[in-house]
Amino acid sequence: MSIWVTWPGLVKFGTLGITAGLLTLAVERNELFENNLFDFERWDEYNADIDCNERSLTARMEDGTCNILENPAEGSANRRFGRNVELDAAHGETDTLLSPNPRDISNSLMARDEFKPAPTLNFIAAAWIQFMTHDWFSHGDGSTTDYIDVELPAGDSRGTGTMSIRRTLPDPTRIAAEDEAGLPDAYLNENTHWWDGSQIYGSNLETLNTLREFQGGRMLVNSDGSLPRDFFSGVPKTGFTDNWWLGLSMLHQLFVKEHNAVAEMLAATYPEKDDQWLFDKARLVTSALMAKIHTVEWTPAIIANPVTERAMYANWWGLVGNAEARDKYGAEFDKLAEDLAKSDSWVRRILGLDPKMSEALDNGKAIEWAVTGLAGARNSDNAGVPFTLTEEFVAVYRMHPLLRDTVDVYDIGSNVVSESIPLTETRDGDAEDILDDQGGDRLWYSFGVTLPGALTLRNYPEFLRDLYVPGRGVIDLATIDIIRDRERGVPRYNEFRRQIGLTPINDFTDLTDDAEIVSELRRLYDNDVEKIDALVGQLAETVRPEGFGFGETAFQIFIMNASRRIIADRFYTADYNPETYTQEGYDWVENTTMVDVLKRHYPALDLSLVGVDNAFKPWGLNIPADYDNWAACDKQSLLWTNGVKRTEYAADERPEIPPVDIGGLISSVISDKVKYVGDVAPVGHAKPIHPHGAMAKVAFNSTGNHPYTGVFEGNECGLLRLSVTGDPADRGFAPGFAWKTLIDGQPSENISALYTLSGQADNHDFFANELSNYVSLEANDTLGSSLLFSFVTSKPTLVVANAMAETQSDGSAEASPVSPTQVYFVPTAEVRGLFAEGEHDFRDDLLSLPEGTKLYDVYATDMEIKSSIWPSRQQRLQDERRDDAVKIGEMVLTSEFTTSVFGDSGVFFKHQRYEDR
Ligand code: HEM
Repeated sequence: MSIWVTWPGLVKFGTLGITAGLLTLAVERNELFENNLFDFERWDEYNADIDCNERSLTARMEDGTCNILENPAEGSANRRFGRNVELDAAHGETDTLLSPNPRDISNSLMARDEFKPAPTLNFIAAAWIQFMTHDWFSHGDGSTTDYIDVELPAGDSRGTGTMSIRRTLPDPTRIAAEDEAGLPDAYLNENTHWWDGSQIYGSNLETLNTLREFQGGRMLVNSDGSLPRDFFSGVPKTGFTDNWWLGLSMLHQLFVKEHNAVAEMLAATYPEKDDQWLFDKARLVTSALMAKIHTVEWTPAIIANPVTERAMYANWWGLVGNAEARDKYGAEFDKLAEDLAKSDSWVRRILGLDPKMSEALDNGKAIEWAVTGLAGARNSDNAGVPFTLTEEFVAVYRMHPLLRDTVDVYDIGSNVVSESIPLTETRDGDAEDILDDQGGDRLWYSFGVTLPGALTLRNYPEFLRDLYVPGRGVIDLATIDIIRDRERGVPRYNEFRRQIGLTPINDFTDLTDDAEIVSELRRLYDNDVEKIDALVGQLAETVRPEGFGFGETAFQIFIMNASRRIIADRFYTADYNPETYTQEGYDWVENTTMVDVLKRHYPALDLSLVGVDNAFKPWGLNIPADYDNWAACDKQSLLWTNGVKRTEYAADERPEIPPVDIGGLISSVISDKVKYVGDVAPVGHAKPIHPHGAMAKVAFNSTGNHPYTGVFEGNECGLLRLSVTGDPADRGFAPGFAWKTLIDGQPSENISALYTLSGQADNHDFFANELSNYVSLEANDTLGSSLLFSFVTSKPTLVVANAMAETQSDGSAEASPVSPTQVYFVPTAEVRGLFAEGEHDFRDDLLSLPEGTKLYDVYATDMEIKSSIWPSRQQRLQDERRDDAVKIGEMVLTSEFTTSVFGDSGVFFKHQRYEDR
């Protein structure tokens, strides 16, 4: 059996289905709770000085004390990290600390050769996880007297000599008895271990007091919405300010503003309450909201697998999916327990096939948590081991490859980078300057549409390998990441896996089949898999469950600790309720998403966030379920901003127009074209003809002097796409026209037009001829498109306009619709003769037209369409209709033309068949 996804849950994902997969996950977590929690803090000593007052019963204390009232120091700031591996296996390395040379590893396996993006996440996700780790932990700045000297390997870019790295400061309160007992070194967490928002509130009272307004429960925010700044560093004053850069400025500002929004809501609801009460409640709510966003949004984005996505929902809400149902099932769990007690238990019969699972069912806790959720569980539970975060937990969050080399800034809605700022220039005091200059909304948009780096080897950003840190000089963070694990006794990769119940690897090729990387790993690690560093092994794991942004080693640590942070905390379990949070505060947590938070503080992002259900996945065009009900101009804006502008081609990226793909004109494409309803093409819909063109927003202004109804009476918000059938060099220049009329509260109506099937030979002036929705069949229809369309309609060269006459642009139905049979789009004097006839790319012509240009005079007739096989008669019939047509309106550009991926392959124009009229 492969060593990968060794634990039963993942193996069974495919066979047991989601619910059983979840229960298996819960059982696995229980196993880990039983076997992998080690704590060696001297709690009693610290408890002696802590007095949990009345306020602490319903509020988070600044230093994290009094969450567990019986052991009040538990999880507080400046207490030791615990461990997830046996203490015997957790001793820091001494003899082997520098072997193999960590700088050599940094140079050859960590350094980014080219940027490898993580395609399913956006850059907000990268900043977010650093923001979270700053809530959870910090080992501090390290010793200024005790250094680790790393020899620079041959050929190093820094020359010869050594690189000095501060040693991590061990807990200074260690006592001799601990040495005698053979305990590993211990390190203190400067931050509270709890998930309590300490990155914005700080981990002690003094810090927090400098951040509060002391009015209305609010935090200090300047009148322009920015946070007050430290005079010397320029970094905002906030709870935790290490390793500052733009992403942190954005997140800290956002969540301090969110805190104030909560405080203001509470102050309005409870005017009699004082500042301290309002502050305490607002902190509870804001911290819980961040924890919930992380659990049900960030995590499913980075491990985008259906089971884990559901599992994260279950962590918060339980299998049943929402707060109400969770409460109900909390009560009904007892019934489940009763069932389990029976010898013929239903649950046991379904799930008890696995001996491990069967054992865990007797314990019952796993099931209760899986079914009812961790948040809001009836009691907090530290699994008998005082709650702390662990060194192994810190180790799996060394996710520096997530960082890009640049912050690419876009105008809201655009796909074209307006400025590319090296990430290293967004650090410290520069971060706030950039946030001020660019504006939060532009930056959030930019982070929403750009991708972070993938967590893999050879993807560590160069600026972090050459990082200037004030007071520390220039460091190589990749070298440091490797040393830290060794120094702090995080076992090497294979032992790490054994310790946490995973199968060790046998050979380097188990990690990756990249031969070059395997050979480099063999060289560095002396051909000995036991020597592979924990971080290197994790980044090398290329076999990952579907959708996982990281591998199973990190995941194993994560399923245990992610859940423990919730289940051990009184404010997420017994006291996660309306009494402690207030009903309004509780509802705020339950009902708010990251998208809501962004929209609340940056309304300019409303449109960019339409249909975005997870703010950490790349933003793009999403068609919400109620899209058809929207107002026409809102639909136009959505398609334009998130479709066209968002995917606009840069000048040098515009694709060449390929020859027509005759083989691609298959019946499924043709049948989509007449049957599918929607403005965005169905997944996989191909465009074998008219593949490239340009789009613009258009208005149709009716003359008001004609009998035709529906959108022919006027349509303010439409989209026009002008294209050619295929490469003009191949079959001549054949202009094509597609007009989408957007309608309030109803699906759009569309009409297409051509000059003729075969086009206008070598005349490349798009406006040389008038276009119509009906063209004659041609003996030389070399594309065979009329033949193919004839499989789905009896009039393959006609796109009828009847549906356009049935509904007005405001969505009201016409009682007696009057439709033209044939419509003519006649280039106006403004565009006729404007462009050259010789060979050139017509898209350049279109792009040069300004907004406001009157493109077409629109003519229409209602004479019956008759055709004849005799060319001269056919021509006469055609001429008669044309002569009968009257001008019914004008089509005007309400934007410039744009070439875009959406315009070429995303937008969909339905053809209305003769039979569907
Ligand atoms: C510009 C962005 C960043 C900078 C400048 C930065 C810098 C640093 C520095 C200087 C350290 C301390 C190294 C030492 O032990 O001496 C550190 C530690 C760490 N960083 Fe980052 N980092 C950044 C982003 C991130 C991100 C996106 C993550 C993702 C989770 C991350 C996770 C960590 C972790 C887990 C540690 C270890 C903390 C500890 O030992 O307690 N960092 N980083």
